[in-house]
This record gives sequence, C-alpha cells and structure tokens, in this order.
Amino acid sequence: MTRLVTQWFCAVLVAASAAAQPAQKVIFDTDFAFPPQDDSLALFFVLNSPDINLLGITTVAGNRSLNVATADVLKILEATERREVPVYEGAAAPLLHVGTDWDRRTHGGWYSNPPAREPPGGFATSKRAERQGAVDYLVQTVRAHPREVTILAIGPLTNIAMAMRMDTAFASNVKQLVIMGGAIAALPDGAGNHTPNAEFNIYVDPEAAQIVLRSGIPILLSPLNVSRKARFTKPWLDRILATDTPITRLIREHLGPMYEARPDRVMLMYDQVAAVSLVAPSVAKTEELLVDVDVNPGPSYGVTVGGRERWPGGEQAQPMQVQSDLDWDRFIQLFVERVTARPAPMRRQP
Ligand code: BDR
Ligand code: CA
Repeated sequence: MTRLVTQWFCAVLVAASAAAQPAQKVIFDTDFAFPPQDDSLALFFVLNSPDINLLGITTVAGNRSLNVATADVLKILEATERREVPVYEGAAAPLLHVGTDWDRRTHGGWYSNPPAREPPGGFATSKRAERQGAVDYLVQTVRAHPREVTILAIGPLTNIAMAMRMDTAFASNVKQLVIMGGAIAALPDGAGNHTPNAEFNIYVDPEAAQIVLRSGIPILLSPLNVSRKARFTKPWLDRILATDTPITRLIREHLGPMYEARPDRVMLMYDQVAAVSLVAPSVAKTEELLVDVDVNPGPSYGVTVGGRERWPGGEQAQPMQVQSDLDWDRFIQLFVERVTARPAPMRRQP
C-alpha cells in the first residue's frame, strides 16, 4: 500500500512539474534499429512525452550501418504515425576508427555502409530523410536556440564531435548532453560490454568521444553501471501489451515472440535510462566525476576512465554528472506509463 501511494505521488510530481514547465527542446542522436533494439524503445518513450519537444532525429553508424539506422527510424515514424518528426542522416563511419576482422565478427555494423536491408514491413513509403545532413542540422539548430537544446546521444558520438569541429561555439551553446555510454571502473558494475573494459558506443568512436567529453559541455553520463540495474522482464512486457496502440503493437510484434520462446529472458535497458533521465533525472543517483576516454591503440582503446580526483595522465578529464545507481521502480513505472500512453495528435511545438 505504502509503495502504491509512493508511486502515485511520484507520478503526480512528474506530471505536475511537466505541466509547469515548457517542453524541453531535444535532438535525438541515435544508432537506431527496430525493436528489440534499445534505441527504438527509447524513442517510443520520447515520442510519448508531452514535456519533450522533439526537434529532430539524427542518425549515426553504430549498432547497424548508417543506412539501416535511417531506414529503420523512417519506418518507425511512419508506423507510429509521427511523420512530422524530421530525420537527418549523419556520419556513416567513425572519425578515425577502422573496423578490423574482430569488429566484423562481433557486434555492430558501423564499419561499412551497404544499402539498407528492408525494415520489417518494408521501407517507409512516404517518410523521407531531410536533405540537410545531421551535422549541419545540429550546428544550425543549436545556434538558433542557444543554451536551449538538449541532445540525447545514444550512439557513437561522431555527429556531435563533428558539430563541435564545424562550429567552435557549439559546445557552449548546447544546454546539456545526455549520453548513454561508457563503463566506469571506479563505480560498482563497471566492466565493459564490448571489450573487457570498453562500452560499445564509446569503443566505436573513441576519438569522437574524447572530443565531446573534453569539450566542457554540461554532460549527464549514463554508463553501463546503471544499465545493468535496468533489467526488463516478461511481467513488464505483459504490462505494456495490456494496452493496444501503434507503439505497443510494434513492441508485441518484435518482443512478444522472443519472450514467448524464453519467458525468463532479461533485456538490459541502456538507452531507455538515458531517455527517461531527460524528464526525471532523479530516477538515477549521480556523482560528479572527472571522466576521459583512452584513445591509445592497445588493450584500453575506447575505455572511459572516471575518477573522484585528478590522476597523472588524467589532466584533461572533465567534470560531469555520472549516474551511479538507479531507482528501478520509479524508472520502470514511468517508462511503462509513457510507452503505453494513447497517442495525442501533433505534439510538436515551434
Ligand atoms: C549501447 O550500445 C548499443 O548497442 C546500444 O544501443 C546502447 O546505446 C550499449 O552499450
Ligand atoms: Ca544506441
């Protein structure tokens, strides 16, 4: 009973603060792919958040190739009847990192960009990517709204680093960067998920990550340490599927069979934690750490290092807020509540 009242109280608080403030301007930068990919589940949350003014989506190579990321996001926007959200195609490859045979054998599609395979249900028929490229769009939009735009960066940081290179004022004009990336050994559960110590998004483009993390932009970093506390299981899927909307239908189609085959399956929620943190940052406990990225070729390529105090070699590490723990109950309640919300017509604002 106490728990129910607390949950109700938290929901009222989030709703009340959402009602009181103008919707925050957000650009969604993503190495997108269809569900069960976490980027798409994070997008469902953002699309259903009235307190987020989703200005645009920028794609980048990562989990899949750039062509797949763009084709999939266009198809999802069409399937969820959100064609009004513009999509801008970004970097097809990291700044310097060249994929090896090992990269081809392990996870990801960032090392080449063949034509996209058809998304489930076929390519989008009426929704197209904008002619303007992602980097140009990022620079122009941030310039037009100085210190008003938050970037949710849930793929390799290539587009963001390129925007910083294109416009020296970019970093100081971004309101905040919320990044899913990295694994911090100084905090609990800090192993990597791609190499022993490197997290995938940072590993794919470590040079870009270093530029971004050293830029001085206000950063909220959501590392693997917290993703490991966000474990999505079948009862939560069942809760989502109890509602019928275009979004839950997509989830049913793509996650349903996986959980039918293996009802004990646990899926970590990476990008979803970063997305929920946009509107409810207090779902995670944060700590200010100095963070940098190792770009030296060798066993620690792409490793994020975070410390409470400066260390020799860490002279350029910048202070940022790093999530260290998650209030799972609040997080999942809010996630499910929004993802299952009934669609409202035209939520974009000027
Ligand atoms: C991150 O890498 C990608 O596979 C996921 O979408 C997430 O952004 C997790 O390491
Ligand atoms: Ca991602």
